[in-house]
Amino acid sequence: MYVLGISAFYHDSAAALIRDGEIVAAAQEERFTRKKHDSQFPTQAVKFCLEAAHARPEEIAHVAFYDKPLLKFDRLLETYIAYAPRGFKLFLKGMPLWLRQKLHHAREMDKGLDHKYKGRYLFTKHHESHAASAFFPSPFEEAAILTLDGVGEWATATIGSGSGNKITLTDEMRFPHSLGLLYSAFTYFTGFRVNSGEYKLMGLAPYGEPVYRELIFDKLIDLKEDGSFRMDMSYFAFCYKSVMTGPKFDALFGGPPRRPESPLTKREMDIAASIQSVTEEIMLRCARHAHKLSGSRNLVMAGGVALNCVGNGRIRREGPFENIWIQPAAGDAGGALGAALFVWHQLLDNPRVPDGNDAQRGSLLGPSYSAEHTEDFLDSVGASYRRFEGEEQLLTEVAELLADERVVGHFSGRMEFGPRALGNRSIIGDARSAKMQGVMNLKIKFRESFRPFAPAVLREDAAEFFQMQPGEDSPYMLLVASVQQDKRRDSGSNGQESMGLDKLAQVRSVVPAITHVDYSARVQTVDETRHGRFYRLLQRFKEKTGCPVLINTSFNVRGEPIVCTPGDAYRCFMATNMDALVIDDFLLLKKDQAQAEQHAVDARRDIAPD
Ligand SMILES: [Fe+2]
Repeated sequence: MYVLGISAFYHDSAAALIRDGEIVAAAQEERFTRKKHDSQFPTQAVKFCLEAAHARPEEIAHVAFYDKPLLKFDRLLETYIAYAPRGFKLFLKGMPLWLRQKLHHAREMDKGLDHKYKGRYLFTKHHESHAASAFFPSPFEEAAILTLDGVGEWATATIGSGSGNKITLTDEMRFPHSLGLLYSAFTYFTGFRVNSGEYKLMGLAPYGEPVYRELIFDKLIDLKEDGSFRMDMSYFAFCYKSVMTGPKFDALFGGPPRRPESPLTKREMDIAASIQSVTEEIMLRCARHAHKLSGSRNLVMAGGVALNCVGNGRIRREGPFENIWIQPAAGDAGGALGAALFVWHQLLDNPRVPDGNDAQRGSLLGPSYSAEHTEDFLDSVGASYRRFEGEEQLLTEVAELLADERVVGHFSGRMEFGPRALGNRSIIGDARSAKMQGVMNLKIKFRESFRPFAPAVLREDAAEFFQMQPGEDSPYMLLVASVQQDKRRDSGSNGQESMGLDKLAQVRSVVPAITHVDYSARVQTVDETRHGRFYRLLQRFKEKTGCPVLINTSFNVRGEPIVCTPGDAYRCFMATNMDALVIDDFLLLKKDQAQAEQHAVDARRDIAPD
């Protein structure tokens, strides 16, 4: 029996398909349409999911949508009335889309599914979808559940528990009080884009000092012991305007928001450090409360805030749980998967038998492409390439390129579901290289120079390099851990601590390319079961260099979705200063490409927009 889950019409549309409870395919629409955060009905993602399962639309037993549009509309109306007449402009702006599309989900989905699905549509609550996406694929028989995001219908955070094939959500925080929206307000204020720049704010935090932390606690939020809080809405404008913060907020932080593209100053860095610290405190309290309510040793998490891997790292280190599993597609895209699983387990009462591993299949749930497809494409664009028989020789050559400080686009097998690239749609490089962070940011990704890169490390070597328990997992790059003391290096600053972005220039460890300025790293532990090919490449690199760590960053340039097809990968390769491209069994070197040119580099990318 097939159940299709859909997330759409807000941001990050996606489709997910399960067959007899097993996750068979999931993908975000943006990867196909090449429009970042595409929110249209995920027509192409649905088509892909059905093709991957060799299923026809008529065979779908149930279609589940990841939230309840009428409840969301209710929230919009009530908020408008509560703030009237202030929000009239925003109300007028949003209404046409609601009347045309968002209130007619069944009709829109019928259209999207080509009128071939004849059943009823099921609508799960937004946070039920997040909670289901966190618990059902997790390796746990039972667990506490914590969901944190901007807002769904009314809920902005929930706490509950899962056991066997059921989840129960017992506590919730409601709009407008929201950790996701609070974080987004600061994202907006520091000149980044809401719903996508939150990661940048988190990356900026270690450059600053949390000097505004107490001010935030004093003025902006009233935080309770259980992690719930109320926001003083006189500082925020998102209920009645299309901006996040108001004049009172400006006054509190010494002036108006930073204009996008203007230079980052100490103020933004300190604000980033402050809101990050506040966020971690709230996350920790929520986790402790979830533990108190459930008594479980296990925690599962989802919702956009669960992508705050620094906060997740603190829950792991300082929280009461022994085990944590976080849905890799923690944002709204993952709601598609959660909705489908909710129908299968919760509504249809089908059993769930965890086998000790998670059911997310490495999150490699997207499309893959045949060698014939790739070869035809490469021939059609006149690319110069070598095709290898099997991966042995290819991986050896790629390891050599990496050891030689070459930057490699690594495309293999199925695309990842979720915002992180886990080796199959990744750009990789030597983590030991002192210049690699700058090269990757400026010459490859064309993005802000301050942004850190994440390490992929052989699982068995993770605890040697990072402060993790031996054998501890972070397969989906959702936990931050510090670089081990004995891997750190004197930064050569003669005891003088650098300020702000000057911190960037220092070599802080034996793997400087992935060591952030506070010695933290967003670790991906790589194991053979989940990410076999990438694991073997890391092994090969270790054999050659003694180092089991590579930089792993997503295969895209700033402002574009991660590549999906071999064609996308090739275009990205040619549009950047990447040295080599691997597409499954094919290897392309930039120096062999007749059309290749060096691309101009702007050295002031710390001020770039999204
Ligand atoms: Fe959400």
